[in-house]
Amino acid sequence: MMGAPVAFIDLQAQYRRLKPQIDARMHAVLDHGQFILGPEVAEFERALGEYTGGAHVVGVSNGTDALMMALMAHGIGPGDAVYVPSFTFTATAEAVLMLGATPVFVDVLEDTCNLDVEDLKRAIVQTQGLRPKAVIAVDLFGLPADYGRICDVAAAHDMQVIADAAQSLSGAIDGVRVGKLAPLTATSFFPAKPLGCFGDGGALFTSDPEMAEKLRSIRGHGTGKAKYDIIRIGMNARLDTLQAAILLVKLTVLEEERNNREKLSLYYDSRLSNVISALARPAGYQSAWAQYTIKLEHRDHVQAALSQSGIPTQIYYPRPMHLQPAYAAYGGGEGALPVSENLSRRVLSLPMHPYMPEEVAARICDAVCAAVGAGERP
Ligand SMILES: Cc1ncc(COP(=O)(O)O)c(C=O)c1O
Repeated sequence: MMGAPVAFIDLQAQYRRLKPQIDARMHAVLDHGQFILGPEVAEFERALGEYTGGAHVVGVSNGTDALMMALMAHGIGPGDAVYVPSFTFTATAEAVLMLGATPVFVDVLEDTCNLDVEDLKRAIVQTQGLRPKAVIAVDLFGLPADYGRICDVAAAHDMQVIADAAQSLSGAIDGVRVGKLAPLTATSFFPAKPLGCFGDGGALFTSDPEMAEKLRSIRGHGTGKAKYDIIRIGMNARLDTLQAAILLVKLTVLEEERNNREKLSLYYDSRLSNVISALARPAGYQSAWAQYTIKLEHRDHVQAALSQSGIPTQIYYPRPMHLQPAYAAYGGGEGALPVSENLSRRVLSLPMHPYMPEEVAARICDAVCAAVGAGERP
């Protein structure tokens, strides 16, 4: 039976809570009128840098541009191989091709959906006719990838590591926050992300002040010290002042919101782990819980039943990148990356946001248990 519709992500609840502060910050920008690189951008970059534990932060136009800028900063281009997980959002691979480099798809782990380091090693050794130059690890659904091992493998092959943390801001490993886990990290402030703005936005994080300066130059058309000194090829990839003003307010509640997401994930685990298979919680890892994703053998049946009960779900992602028509030339076809292919047939993301009332969470769990019935076991 259809109950009241449930929100997959309730951005309005967050706005109701923060409205006075957000409106005041936005009006301050309208009053001073510095819409491009106004003072809120630098203020936000400082605040986010402090939040992450001292990283230099460069606010940019969106997460895809952030990835492209990271590759540009490393001088990556034609003839270079960039290793990316196949089970990701298209932007990870798209950024590589936009720079003229070649994406090499790597499989992921069944338990975390993140990059499989053993498969990365295999892919590097098997690379022919390209220079292995970088790996972009993705923190899928909010859980950081295994940066310790990824950085070791990259160092052994003289490769760069870029973190695609579009979904994982507020995540951490052993208390070290996303933004400080990899030498260069890109994130997104798309509205539905753990820290989202009211439009497009993104950021890059690095501990290297020279890299930060280079990224600022790339962000603004490759300028040098003087405004019309063009010292490299850059792009227009600035974070809007208005978005920075909104993000400054939302950043003040990010940690509290992450804790709420964590609680909801634990509730889901406790109610659902007998009937479905949830993703792993590796020791020492803190997820941002951008999504709560389960794995089901009869996924489409369960999704249809939940929809009938007014419960929205999403499939992230229904097709791995190496099987997408646009990337067919770079993948080995069906069967090449079996874990990614298998996950894309089984994953289902449930509603996840920090403002979900307990009774709604209970209703979602009741509906999943009923939909799964006796036919589904982990
Ligand atoms: C894993 C991943 N990488 C990159 C992006 C791109 O971010 P944006 O939409 O801000 O360009 C996204 C956004 O959905 C993402 O999920």
